[in-house]
Amino acid sequence: MTAKILVLPGDGIGPEITAQAEKVLEVLRAKYKFDVEWTHGLLGGAAYDATGEPLPAATLEAARKSDAVLLAAVGGPKYDTAPRDKRPERGLLGIRAGMGLYANLRPAILYPELAAASSLKPELVADLDVLIVRELTGGIYFGQPRGIEVRDGVRVGINTEVYSEPEIERIARTAFDAAQLRGKRLCSVDKANVLESSELWRETVIRVGRDYPDVQLTHQYVDNAAMQLVRAPKQFDVIVTSNLFGDILSDIAAQLTGSIGMLPSASLNERGQGLYEPIHGSAPDIAGKGVANPLAMILSLAMLLRYSLKRGDLADKVQKAVRHVLADGLRTADIARSGEKTVGTLEMGEAVVGRL
Ligand code: IPM
Ligand code: MG
Repeated sequence: MTAKILVLPGDGIGPEITAQAEKVLEVLRAKYKFDVEWTHGLLGGAAYDATGEPLPAATLEAARKSDAVLLAAVGGPKYDTAPRDKRPERGLLGIRAGMGLYANLRPAILYPELAAASSLKPELVADLDVLIVRELTGGIYFGQPRGIEVRDGVRVGINTEVYSEPEIERIARTAFDAAQLRGKRLCSVDKANVLESSELWRETVIRVGRDYPDVQLTHQYVDNAAMQLVRAPKQFDVIVTSNLFGDILSDIAAQLTGSIGMLPSASLNERGQGLYEPIHGSAPDIAGKGVANPLAMILSLAMLLRYSLKRGDLADKVQKAVRHVLADGLRTADIARSGEKTVGTLEMGEAVVGRL
């Protein structure tokens, strides 16, 4: 059966890095006889410009019908003045919610070739392999009420952190399942000393944990977890946390591995469908300059092959090719040491294709 992928290039550096991932797909199709087809859809600012909506109905429809979605990035300063509900980020949140993508897996792996690019000492990050499981369709990102209104003559901004027990239970199971397949250690991150939503979070994770006696469960408050991630990151195997805390902690984890330009992610729903995207944003400051690192995007494609299309064999080939180009010394600016020669987006993409 032909695998059907919906590709969403989005904004900023999105189209540039998408082009490199598509070259990789071409090679898989031509050389490894991989039966795949893909179409493009609009999301984010690009969609708003073309249709007036950051998430056109046609995009969500196409996403639901595809076997998997590959998304680059959305957003840019151009849209700062757009109506709040038309901003590119709302398109991204809309497709996450619309597809029910509650589980966001963000693996932070340090490639030995990039140990010097990490901002931490090599001995602290050598062989780092942490998986952040971020809840993606709940919490303060979606809670009601929200908005900006006038109360007693002053403007107030309002957002609501809300988690139901089934939502917590569902993401906890995803994290425990993942931990069982890895180092069997799970750290749940919350702010249970202050927030009621976190109190329920912790209680629920502990209850779910009784079904996983082989997984060692620990808890950290988010402020401490942020500190521990930069103090001794190798203490972590799997981290499970809420939408907002996961957003913040995954950027920290990314920098530990040398660059946010290296980290892919998978967002999965209950039907096993997935959306795959690099965790970096649209990087408007370098958009159109041909210098963006396409590796997180290419590694996101590898995750798509593995998790949604069950082609671990092809995913292995792509990941190996990335390792090879790093070993060959190719560096985009974000992962280069000062004085080191750098390559652009295109050259990096072509090197991966060459290695395939
Ligand atoms: C991420 C991004 C998004 C998020 C933004 C672009 C809405 O930072 O995927 O981490 O906050 O989820
Ligand atoms: Mg983020």
